[in-house]
Amino acid sequence: MTIIVSLVSYLTTMSWPGDRWTLAARDALSAPWTVELLWTLLPYALGLLLAAVLYRHAFIPLDRVRRVTEIGWGCIAADDKRPIAERIREIQRPRKIGQLPPVYPNGWFAVTESRKVKVEQVIQVQVFGETLAVFRSKDGTAHVTDAYCPHMGANMAVGGVVKGDCLECPFHGWLFRGSDGSCAHIPYSSKAVPKTANVKRWESREVNGRIYVWYDAEGRLPQWHIPEIGHITRGEWSYRGRTYHEVLAHIQEIPENGADMAHLGHLHVPNILKGNDLRDAFANNQAMDLAEHAWNGEWRARESPESHMAELVMTHSLSFIGGKFKLFKMTVRAEQIGPGIVHLHFDTGLGAGILIQTVTPIEPLRQKIVHEFYTSSTFFAPYAKFVLLCEAYHLERDIMIWNSKVYQSQPLLVAEDRQILKFRRWYNQFYSENSPKFNFRKESFEW
Ligand code: FES
Ligand SMILES: [Fe+2]
Repeated sequence: MTIIVSLVSYLTTMSWPGDRWTLAARDALSAPWTVELLWTLLPYALGLLLAAVLYRHAFIPLDRVRRVTEIGWGCIAADDKRPIAERIREIQRPRKIGQLPPVYPNGWFAVTESRKVKVEQVIQVQVFGETLAVFRSKDGTAHVTDAYCPHMGANMAVGGVVKGDCLECPFHGWLFRGSDGSCAHIPYSSKAVPKTANVKRWESREVNGRIYVWYDAEGRLPQWHIPEIGHITRGEWSYRGRTYHEVLAHIQEIPENGADMAHLGHLHVPNILKGNDLRDAFANNQAMDLAEHAWNGEWRARESPESHMAELVMTHSLSFIGGKFKLFKMTVRAEQIGPGIVHLHFDTGLGAGILIQTVTPIEPLRQKIVHEFYTSSTFFAPYAKFVLLCEAYHLERDIMIWNSKVYQSQPLLVAEDRQILKFRRWYNQFYSENSPKFNFRKESFEW
């Protein structure tokens, strides 16, 4: 007891060393030489901070992600304070849908970006109304199978383990080969693995930094290939960023945009500084309207053996004061490859590059659009980032249209719209007898 009392009295009378340190620090900081040093260092510190901010904004590749609720809803009243998802569902419920083509065309579709699937990892992706497991085996090969285990239905992308070139189900440990989907091992069974023990394997290819799967309603093998961009594979071009957008519309609406020349001459004319919201883009603004985008292009389908491809050659310029001065002029060649891939090539005095667009149905009326941008090293990185951002703004104007429109199966066209009909005839080749139709009773724009 005496010891405790002594200890307490000692502790209450001793001074905390922190006080001494605080006093010493205060003395040092108030010393004239310290103040002078701090003032000398301050500009350097601010310079470093500014450089870090500039580097982040100018040189780090763009990563712009806009999910369903985040873009294209300028039509919703700003004074309605309910959660945005609730308001969107409310306006989508009575939305007119139209006589839709089948909901999933046949072809190659990007399911994910290569860098998202590391060696011996599995991820889940949801496309075509299905849930798939995408995994990378030890040797680096990417495989795609149905996620649901045929044994008792566990989702193998949720807690499954990649072993060699197989995926092990987390529920009872069945092991499925990525190469053909067959079951390689049932850990607790004394009998041979039944021949019927298979999970559906999807035909897949990894090219240009993405993993694609082949969708075919008739179960046919791939009918064509995705062109490889050698500059990307060989690492000669630099990655400048990506954008990800979700849209509530039928997939065909998105590539149809490329054949719709008249919309370029209206929707995409207002200067991009006016923004991605149509109400701002079309608002009168004399200063902003001094600069306008101008577009000129020609869409055409290719002949066999490239009949699954179409091409749009387009000139884009930014002109001032009614076209008297041009800030820049750029000619691009966009190759539409099947129903869901575009390779947009350009070659300018600043350098060459490609924008890869993939459109993939998540569900019948919900698409994901991913743009990835690669340029030669001569193409100044901050400028590349700016170009990709401007391009995203233009896309977001389209999204505001797509999110609210009806699909016009019999559009009221004029002669100048003829390329739209050509496009529809061409796109029709991607539907087949068993292509799934939209189920009006069960499906809607809700997500
Ligand atoms: S549910 Fe997959 S092993 Fe049983
Ligand atoms: Fe557009």
